[in-house]
Amino acid sequence: MSAIVVVGAQWGDEGKGRVVDYLAREAQLVARFNGGDNAGHTVVAEGHTLKLHLVPSGILHPDLICLIGAGVVVNPERLVAEMDELAALGVDVGPSRLKISAAAHTILPTHRALDGARDAARGRGAIGTTRRGIGPTYADKAARVNLRAGDMANSEQFAERVAEAVQVHNRRLREQYSAEPLSPEQAAAEYCAYAQRLAPHLTDGSALVGEMLAAGKTVLCEAAQGLLLDLDHGTYPYVTSSSTVAGGALTGLGFGPRHVSRVIGVAKAYTTRVGAGPFPTELLDEVGDRIREVGSEYGTTTGRPRRCGWLDLVILRYAVRINGLNGLALTKLDVLSGLERLKMAVAYERDGARPECGRRERTEVFPAEFGVESLAQWKPVYEELPGWAEDISGVRSRDELPPAAREYVARIEEQVGVPVTFIGVGPERGQTITMNNEQ
Ligand code: GDP
Ligand code: IMO
Ligand code: MG
Repeated sequence: MSAIVVVGAQWGDEGKGRVVDYLAREAQLVARFNGGDNAGHTVVAEGHTLKLHLVPSGILHPDLICLIGAGVVVNPERLVAEMDELAALGVDVGPSRLKISAAAHTILPTHRALDGARDAARGRGAIGTTRRGIGPTYADKAARVNLRAGDMANSEQFAERVAEAVQVHNRRLREQYSAEPLSPEQAAAEYCAYAQRLAPHLTDGSALVGEMLAAGKTVLCEAAQGLLLDLDHGTYPYVTSSSTVAGGALTGLGFGPRHVSRVIGVAKAYTTRVGAGPFPTELLDEVGDRIREVGSEYGTTTGRPRRCGWLDLVILRYAVRINGLNGLALTKLDVLSGLERLKMAVAYERDGARPECGRRERTEVFPAEFGVESLAQWKPVYEELPGWAEDISGVRSRDELPPAAREYVARIEEQVGVPVTFIGVGPERGQTITMNNEQ
């Protein structure tokens, strides 16, 4: 009886989808616990490249159940489209395989419109949200006025409440943002159809997780986004609106901490970020461009170019602390092949209280709680390591890696204090190096 939690250790897009697909071999239930279709999780397997936004990344394993948990905000239009895409590939997404917690929340078209209008109104301070309605939906949830997935059980009543909510949102769109209102009738009709389609998938998600754990099964908990996008512990306000960290798995699915046997943080071998906000190791030069091109660093959900930079161990240490990580899954090591020198940030420095004395202040601890203005004062202190020229995409054991790549991984382990238990050397399911060399 155990739960394994998989979280992003950076700013999202670390490769959680492929790590969940890998670990799903051990699981009987795979459950998404936060976020919505702002997430884009890629699984490359069985000749398909799946880009999953709401359906958990274990869906290609036919013998397990997938759950969209209570902490998730569901855009029913997107979910239905995703289910249709999967069904067309021959993947079973019937009600016995794909379940939706009745306590998950519903995203309305006007939440999306409000998201776009609000971020545009921020001007230069824009967060660069995915405009999927995430912030406004979680805000309505916290204000206790939102519709939940369970309300879909009565589609007619659900449709009426959708129309009412759209009218309320329309007032806000017009009055605060001078934006176009949306048709309440159209939204009601569409959402009535989604409700009828999705109602058979509704379940008591926490009860399902509880039953599985009591029966000695393994529950794999899948996070969306990453630590630094967490509402409480990320680079606020440049964050998403949910709990992206390991604790979010407990509240987002409804079970207690004693069941957690392992917490795995997924990190790229370098760092990326989509959207605005501080990024200490960002590379605005040709090395950054090269990483973006070789690593295909363009958003899975929005197609936006991702900002790229060196690996930041200050962040990974922070990820170990906040999540209680047992280990790291390091993806995209292959993308660094061919770079002559590599850098990793081991600490940050800033001017001391009396800069005229030339004293620098140094920290190994991510200065998260004092806000983005404070974070902007800190500059990374780099350690330089030699790179490797070899193509490593065919390597399947740590011993076969070029010495410089081995050293790179070993240095991360030393600095961060947890083992790297999984290395990605390409996007395909088999392109992995695992601790016991299995594939
Ligand atoms: P997620 O949101 O954390 O699931 O990550 P995304 O799917 O948004 O982005 C990760 C991207 O990197 C996807 O295109 C993956 O196919 C790709 N990827 C994952 N692991 C590796 C790896 O080890 N090597 C390479 N080259 N690509 C990888
Ligand atoms: P996965 O699960 C990377 C970013 C957006 C923006 C900020 C807030 O694929 O790792 P939101 O729409 O959530 O209000 O946007 O968060 N963001 C992500 N960046 N990966 C994601 O998900 C993200 N989900 C949101 O770019 O900066
Ligand atoms: Mg992604």
